[in-house]
Amino acid sequence: MTSDMTHKDSRPEPWGKDVLVEFEDGIAWVKLNRPEKRNAMSVGLAEEMNKVLDALEIDERCGVIVLTGMGEAFSAGMDLKDFFRATDGVSDIERMRAYRSTRAWQWRTLMHYSKPTIAMVNGWCFGGAFTPLICCDLAIASEDAVFGLSEINWGVIPGGVVSKAISTLMNDRKALYYVMTGEQFGGKIAEQLGLVNEAVPADRLRERTVELCKVLLAKNPTVLRQARMAYKYVREMSWEESAEYLTAKADQTTFVDPERGRAKGLSQFLDEKTFQPGHGTYKREG
Ligand code: COA
Repeated sequence: MTSDMTHKDSRPEPWGKDVLVEFEDGIAWVKLNRPEKRNAMSVGLAEEMNKVLDALEIDERCGVIVLTGMGEAFSAGMDLKDFFRATDGVSDIERMRAYRSTRAWQWRTLMHYSKPTIAMVNGWCFGGAFTPLICCDLAIASEDAVFGLSEINWGVIPGGVVSKAISTLMNDRKALYYVMTGEQFGGKIAEQLGLVNEAVPADRLRERTVELCKVLLAKNPTVLRQARMAYKYVREMSWEESAEYLTAKADQTTFVDPERGRAKGLSQFLDEKTFQPGHGTYKREG
């Protein structure tokens, strides 16, 4: 793998309590680590996760992030005790800080993270867990994972930013059906809804995720980053703005790419005739 990462953070590693991180050949496995609480997301978990994402962004061992859960859950959503009840009786400022911490990692950071992200849904996935799931670039689920917008069942609306997040991937009829019924669904339905790219048997989940990571790690990391960012930004632009922005972004990509991938690719296709873009990637080394 050619790396565009410059250094490893020298501060102590900020994970180990509610979040675990393991490195394996360019993959950072980021695991929600409250299995006894089905990885329900507390304020403490949010604070740790913000530090983890910050550290991994400049950690050369991390080329792609896989977000998953320890034990039998991806995440049972926001922690009803350590997030909701704990923020009920506090001052407005403390509540704002707790919400800001959660918003930061679950969508603001993940949505425009500088490295590719894959959610690997290994089990229960409820309510607030839909936000980081959707804000990862890609997602793979176990066929026997169980998803649910359960909020309606206990007297709240899909808040945080869940309703907004689902509206970016699901069509209105289907989104409203699950918002209004709270009905659970499995991995294959999540695939049909577009919430995940694929649902695979549980015993293939890790293997398939690693396969996908390897595909991403083999790409030019600068161009991959710019392509992901560009796609996410143009979703909210007009056609005219998109055309102008993408032209400028393409030029910027060429300018900042230390591999000079565009020139190399053109030369290998047009002059050397050593590769065809339709069949693979240009030779990156040398
Ligand atoms: N918030 C806080 N605690 C949670 C939680 C959540 N979202 N989800 C699970 N837990 C806790 C339980 O209170 C229990 O704690 P305890 O051992 O101290 O009693 C522990 O995790 C295990 O949960 P339990 O319900 O016994 O596990 P289960 O495997 O039988 O069921 C679920 C798993 C996910 C179906 C069930 O826990 C559940 O419905 N959780 C709530 C899901 C939800 O609606 N989330 C939306 C929040 S936005």
